[in-house]
Amino acid sequence: MRLFIRSNILHRPIHPITPAEGEMLHDLIVKHGLKKGLEFGTGEGVSSVWFGRAMQKTGGMLTTIEADRRLCKQAEELFKKEGLAKVIEVWRGNAFDFPALDKGPFDFIFLDAEKEDYAPLFRMSLPRLAPGGLFSAHNTANLKSHLKEFLSLIQSNPGLSTQFYGSKAGVSLTFKNT
Ligand SMILES: C[S@@+](CC[C@H](N)C(=O)[O-])C[C@H]1O[C@@H](n2cnc3c(N)ncnc32)[C@H](O)[C@@H]1O
Repeated sequence: MRLFIRSNILHRPIHPITPAEGEMLHDLIVKHGLKKGLEFGTGEGVSSVWFGRAMQKTGGMLTTIEADRRLCKQAEELFKKEGLAKVIEVWRGNAFDFPALDKGPFDFIFLDAEKEDYAPLFRMSLPRLAPGGLFSAHNTANLKSHLKEFLSLIQSNPGLSTQFYGSKAGVSLTFKNT
């Protein structure tokens, strides 16, 4: 609940994924035929549009979670404008309270929320990641000093294979072994 309040009160600048990061994730979703997506941290909806476009091709659906009501509205308008309203569903609230997590398994999960919450959100959602599914997180290079526990979790688990996309912010790409 603490985070929910914090995200609503402070309208901090949003740092969306870059076009190169978006294109790389879009291509991975299409290549692996990933269909059921979940995103923690919608922001203005830039990343969701990349995932939604990919899932339009795989026949999938994305649920994206955002705590800030103003950003939810803004993102929903963008999805309509992009013709993605049927592919992307926005859930407004605190990611820790997302009621449909057990409706997984998800085969694509993207994490771009508060950095100190990466480890707990990863722990919470890993059991809901399908075998062969991709768990990806943003800012694994530029904010890596805040992500020590998360980075250790994704690299030390023998059931996972992790690589990093070398953009300035950095994107982790963790596949759950089949
Ligand atoms: C960096 S922005 C997301 C940018 C977006 N992924 C993109 O690339 O276009 C992070 C967002 O996460 C939201 N957020 C942070 N913690 C959250 C939580 N626990 N539950 C829901 N949303 C949260 C913030 O309100 C903020 O809009």
